[in-house]
Amino acid sequence: MKVGVVGLGAMGAGIAQLAVEAGLETVGREVTAELGEKARGRIDGFLKRKVEKGQIEAYDIGLLTTTTEVADLADCDVVIEAIVESLEPKQELFRELERVCRPDTVLATNTSALSVTEIASAISSAERVVGMHFFNPAPLMPLVEIVRAELSSDEAFETAYALGEKLGKHPIRCHDTPGFVVNRVLIPLLNDCVRVLDEARVSVEDLDAGMKHGAGWPMGPCELIDLVGTDVHVHASEALWAKLREPRMAAPPRLVAMANAGLLGRKTGRGFYTYES
Ligand SMILES: NC(=O)c1ccc[n+]([C@@H]2O[C@H](COP(=O)([O-])OP(=O)(O)OC[C@H]3O[C@@H](n4cnc5c(N)ncnc54)[C@H](O)[C@@H]3O)[C@@H](O)[C@H]2O)c1
Repeated sequence: MKVGVVGLGAMGAGIAQLAVEAGLETVGREVTAELGEKARGRIDGFLKRKVEKGQIEAYDIGLLTTTTEVADLADCDVVIEAIVESLEPKQELFRELERVCRPDTVLATNTSALSVTEIASAISSAERVVGMHFFNPAPLMPLVEIVRAELSSDEAFETAYALGEKLGKHPIRCHDTPGFVVNRVLIPLLNDCVRVLDEARVSVEDLDAGMKHGAGWPMGPCELIDLVGTDVHVHASEALWAKLREPRMAAPPRLVAMANAGLLGRKTGRGFYTYES
């Protein structure tokens, strides 16, 4: 199986790394050759470290080529899109992919908050479009949501599911609804946690301890929001709120204020907690 990955940023590079680890021929497309080469270097570095730690025996970075040309994805069996989270550029890319790829190439999107069906509506062969929603960081998080859009064919859906397994992930099947499965549940839940900070006048540390020791969470909600980034969480909340209008989905004002103040969490060194760089 040959895999294409479009966009080698945080998610795409992780997905390309998984494909190389799985021994699959992989083509990564970026907007400049330099970005492609940088991503390839990072992937090589991560895999080298895995060998040194004894987590994998060997890998062949030669399986990964990078390109700026969409045409180089022509003979891929599956292409996974991981570019900016915006409808227009994604639809434009899918139109290009439809022009150059084989008719049986499955076109997958890693979107978190957009509708897979709406992305697919840009092309005439919408039956080959599915969602493959990986979690960040893709090489470490075991889950991938395989998302069926309105017109997805069974064949495309099952090909994506099988690829998820081949990449060493635990795939789950779902339909194209806002937030899919995990974010649909997790985002309002994390928003509840933030509201409880003010309502119950519980400290950040005690709330995290409460959810870890009372609900078995591996990490407290405030630690988790710091890891994800308050800005990313606010953006995801706003997307869900816009589509479903459930009050719990709207970002709590406290979080919006944190994001506006640059208290983004781990990536800026300050969020609910302070981090040493
Ligand atoms: N970061 C997360 O936590 C996360 C989790 C799950 C899904 N996603 C989704 O994955 C997608 C990518 O997110 P990310 O965080 O990796 O973003 P990112 O900004 O880190 O990476 C995007 C990359 O795409 C490249 N790019 C943009 N347009 C392109 C094009 N037309 N062709 C090729 N490359 C192009 C950019 O140069 C950049 O390197 C988004 O749809 C996002 O919603 C993100």
